[in-house]
Amino acid sequence: MTIAVFEHEAALAAALARRVADAITDNPRLVLGLPTGRTPIAFYNELRHVSQQQAVDWSRVHTFNLDEFVGLSERDEHSYRRFMDRHLFAHVNVSRSHIHFLDGTARDPVRECEAYERAIDEIGGIDLQVLGIGANGHIGFNEPGDGLAARTHRVTLLDQSRADNAWWFGGDRQQVPAEALSMGMATILKSRAIVLMATGPAKADAVAAMIDGPLTTRVPASFLQLHPNVTAMLDEEAASPE
Ligand code: GLP
Repeated sequence: MTIAVFEHEAALAAALARRVADAITDNPRLVLGLPTGRTPIAFYNELRHVSQQQAVDWSRVHTFNLDEFVGLSERDEHSYRRFMDRHLFAHVNVSRSHIHFLDGTARDPVRECEAYERAIDEIGGIDLQVLGIGANGHIGFNEPGDGLAARTHRVTLLDQSRADNAWWFGGDRQQVPAEALSMGMATILKSRAIVLMATGPAKADAVAAMIDGPLTTRVPASFLQLHPNVTAMLDEEAASPE
């Protein structure tokens, strides 16, 4: 794993935005995997600016987001789909038909997850997967536990994850759905390249376990050690465990 430490969150966001913009310039048909959360907001802001400044053409890019809450439609203001519209999709010329998202209202979530796996495979796989990390070491919504589901699946969120996502629901953790659909760790590990971003002291222990800890389902991010092309982009706080 390549580790890159930045003095400030802003420098990290700018460097990652440049990497993604350059990747699209090099390969206009790039398939991008994208995360939600507070951490990527600065990155998406930068990516919008860089895209505008450098006239990056998103028209042939495809995007696959990691996860979505069960029960929330794409029109729901609290869906991750709406998060992505607000922070990225509304500001670049990505084709609507190239935005791939798990449907939290799918009548048959198992089929929805299978169809998502197929869509990723049919397009030739994800070229560059951008990730955040939960304070409990989760990736997407692959929660720590006795086991991990390899492929895209339905998951029950841990209390900590619901609390950590409360900011997106007006601060009320009771409003955070109890379940989500998420890419699995094997889905994520199939990506050709992975960049994980982490900022702030709350992520430091999870980051340390991800980089140096044993492979364990108790820290889903530890499985990234199996991948040959992972870059962890960290600010100084996230890079400094207690
Ligand atoms: C959510 C998302 C994850 C994300 C995590 C960290 O749980 N499902 O993909 O990495 O939040 O979020 P934040 O960046 O807000 O700490």
